[in-house]
Amino acid sequence: MFFDRLQRSACGKVILCGEHAVVYGRPAIALPVAQLRTHASIWHDHPKDAPTDEIEIIAPDINARFKLNSRPQHPLSRIVQLTTEFVAQQPRNLPDMPDRGTPRLNCRYSLKVRSAIPVGSHLGSGAAASMACARVVAEYWGRELAPADISDLVYEIEKIHHGTPSGIDNTVIAYEKPVWFVKGEAPHVLPLAQFERQFALVIADTGVATPTKTVVGAVREHWQKDTATYERYFDHIASLVKHAREALQHSDDHVLGKLMTENHRILRHIGVSCIELDHLCITAQRAGALGAKLSGGGRGGNMIALARDSHHARYLRRQLLLSGAKRAWIA
Ligand code: MEV
Repeated sequence: MFFDRLQRSACGKVILCGEHAVVYGRPAIALPVAQLRTHASIWHDHPKDAPTDEIEIIAPDINARFKLNSRPQHPLSRIVQLTTEFVAQQPRNLPDMPDRGTPRLNCRYSLKVRSAIPVGSHLGSGAAASMACARVVAEYWGRELAPADISDLVYEIEKIHHGTPSGIDNTVIAYEKPVWFVKGEAPHVLPLAQFERQFALVIADTGVATPTKTVVGAVREHWQKDTATYERYFDHIASLVKHAREALQHSDDHVLGKLMTENHRILRHIGVSCIELDHLCITAQRAGALGAKLSGGGRGGNMIALARDSHHARYLRRQLLLSGAKRAWIA
């Protein structure tokens, strides 16, 4: 018998500017992508003759179905463990949820994760999966967690996925708001008014899946070999990001677009672009984009292009798809 199906979700993200340099302490701006989501649901199945109390994890997008105890180191198992331990220390704050006693792992439920965010496209699929799981597990135990707490939990899983993540992905996905982010500092949520105006961003996926960990590791090797040059690149990016924040504050899309294109140029020097990303950025520029750049880890994954308005965004999206993008969205 199935009952008590709970469902929570988490959004995807793009990095507007500052990726990679953010790993080295420079600022970056990230935006949530509300229409790209991962859903996690729990259903509670407890027939009277249930032999054991076990948590089952089902993730069809990665062909995974297993009992948590059989793969305790799997990232989805880890987020369930960490969230359960954490909520056990927190008071119940969702009085409408049934009281299931002390949060624990020896209980019986199924947790299913479904995602509309393509894996390996640097749109935050890993962080969104962890976030959706953490939210639904917390809710199952009658707790709603603050964004800062849930972000910290997901950061632990990001370390498994990415090695040395800055923490920007879990932060923007936890707050689901545009954020100004500096590693090790409290994030600054950018006033939403900046984004409520017409801000037409097109996201296009190259379809080339490259793990962020690989690209971040490659940048670290280059940085170790030639620290002075890479520090200069990162400083240059930091200055672009600061100007981008001002351009956002003044609703100056023309300046913002130029800064994005310049950011892409530096990312190419850093060695994180690829033919497919460059090709889509050039396509966007030829189609009249105000600016275009790779977004996130690079060497594949997605790029973003700033359109003049929503009508132009639809045109840009079509051009990007005609030029080989595997998927494209208007954010
Ligand atoms: C990933 O979205 C952005 C990177 O800067 C990695 C990180 O910040 O952890 C490439």
